[in-house]
Amino acid sequence: MTVGIVTGESKSTDVSAQSSRPLSVGEYVIIDSQNGKILGLVEKSIISSEALTDVRNFDEAIESKEVADLNSRDKNYKVKIGILGFLDKLQKGQVVLPAVPPLPGTSILEATERDLGTIFSPGGKEWIRIGTLLRNTGIEAQINVNKIVSRHLGILAMTGMGKSNLVSLIAKHLSLLSGTLVIFDYHNDYENLDVSKINYMTTKINPRLLPGDKLAEVIELRENADKQQRVLRESFTDSVKQAKDFWTALEESVSAYGHSTKGYADSASRVLDKIDDAKHRFSDILDPDCGDPVDLIKEGRVNVLNVAELSERQANAALSYYLQELLQQRKESVWERKGKDSHKRAHRFLAPIFVIIEEAHVFVPKGEHTDTKYWASKVAREGRKFGIGLGIVSQRPRNIDPNVLSQMGSLAIMKIVQDDDQQQIASAAESLSKDLLYQLPSLNIGDAILIGQWVNLPSLVHVDEVKGKKTGSDLDAVSEWSQTDKFKEIAKESTQGLIQKDLLLD
Ligand SMILES: Nc1ncnc2c1ncn2[C@@H]1O[C@H](COP(=O)(O)OP(=O)(O)OP(=O)(O)O)[C@@H](O)[C@H]1O
Ligand SMILES: [Mg+2]
Repeated sequence: MTVGIVTGESKSTDVSAQSSRPLSVGEYVIIDSQNGKILGLVEKSIISSEALTDVRNFDEAIESKEVADLNSRDKNYKVKIGILGFLDKLQKGQVVLPAVPPLPGTSILEATERDLGTIFSPGGKEWIRIGTLLRNTGIEAQINVNKIVSRHLGILAMTGMGKSNLVSLIAKHLSLLSGTLVIFDYHNDYENLDVSKINYMTTKINPRLLPGDKLAEVIELRENADKQQRVLRESFTDSVKQAKDFWTALEESVSAYGHSTKGYADSASRVLDKIDDAKHRFSDILDPDCGDPVDLIKEGRVNVLNVAELSERQANAALSYYLQELLQQRKESVWERKGKDSHKRAHRFLAPIFVIIEEAHVFVPKGEHTDTKYWASKVAREGRKFGIGLGIVSQRPRNIDPNVLSQMGSLAIMKIVQDDDQQQIASAAESLSKDLLYQLPSLNIGDAILIGQWVNLPSLVHVDEVKGKKTGSDLDAVSEWSQTDKFKEIAKESTQGLIQKDLLLD
């Protein structure tokens, strides 16, 4: 069905058109050109009224409205359509732009399921359903899983716009494919994830496996306490690392260092206090007897690593350790397959892994060094060769390291209003046109622009909602407050009961 006609100046990259109805931004249309059908994406849509232009006051506006209502020619629906390529080529996975721009007068047709189906839902086993096209709602939108594992993924949006929902959806699909997924869950968002092959674990740090400076971080020695740092570094010897009772051995070693080194007695005693403090406060997290925590990650499962209990520095130490180890194990696995591995070990990941870091702006920050950032960039650079993919999720793209962000081969971008966030995304994603960028503030919850290698074409989609999970939904403070009164009543009654019972017992 014809919905418009190309007008004005045409280019090989975009055309203008007048349409018979207002077209939505993000709608796919067919430009029925002289050289074959071309797929186009509505990037801008402007509605104007002849009668209601240059109106000077309210009364005139009322009169003009009456005129406009009577005149079917009054409304003007103008659209700018970005050219994506010849339809038949796109259906074969090739992007070929027309050498000659479509002639003014060319018809714009509504895109049918037959036109779009093969492009947006190719249906191979590596393609999974993510939702539907936002404007052509009858068309399923799929993404290519292989591409996110080999070329990484960024999920960026303001808070509450559906990032964790998308992660949950990906987790669900990977679970069905028996893929190995590791999610660093910083806010306990995935506790109730409803997938079959799940391995929910609390993140542990084995202090024996850390380098000295990292141990100092996790027991929270101050960074500028040079003498204490030195005491710990010097006392953290190989024999301490291998001792049966790790903490006692470490404490003895620190004491001995304090006694034998002039001017270090006070610092040693402060380090002892810190160790004692950490042993108690972080007894769930710092576990010298947990073996290698990476061994707890299960292949073929969705592994949710709860990092919620950890301080930022501890989480950073843990994350960098996991990333480093996972990359190393994948390397060894690939080398072994090629017969090049010299140091064999029992546990190792045989198939590719996808690792997702929530709150990426904290762990992979712009303009400051963190170990996680070091290892995340390494994974981003080398992951493709060794089958380890990185997913970074953030509500503050402007604070993510631009280098790492630009290595993300695919992006899902949801509603974003901040200008500097948009600019950061624009510089990381060449294929995001300016007009699509302008759409970001007007997206609703769950709407996303998908660009990069996981889709055949930039797509505006609505992501499926993952039901049966309680991730990150906003607190209902009003109902909770109304419950508190009831709780108080119950508490009062039960204490009265207890008092009466006590009296009876007396
Ligand atoms: N695709 C969707 N369709 C409908 N509703 C959705 C969709 N995605 C998310 N929601 C709703 O929005 C809420 C918030 O989503 P989600 O927790 O995924 O946001 P978020 O971007 O991860 O937020 P935060 O930045 O706080 O982590 C969900 O509880 C859900 O109710
Ligand atoms: Mg979230």
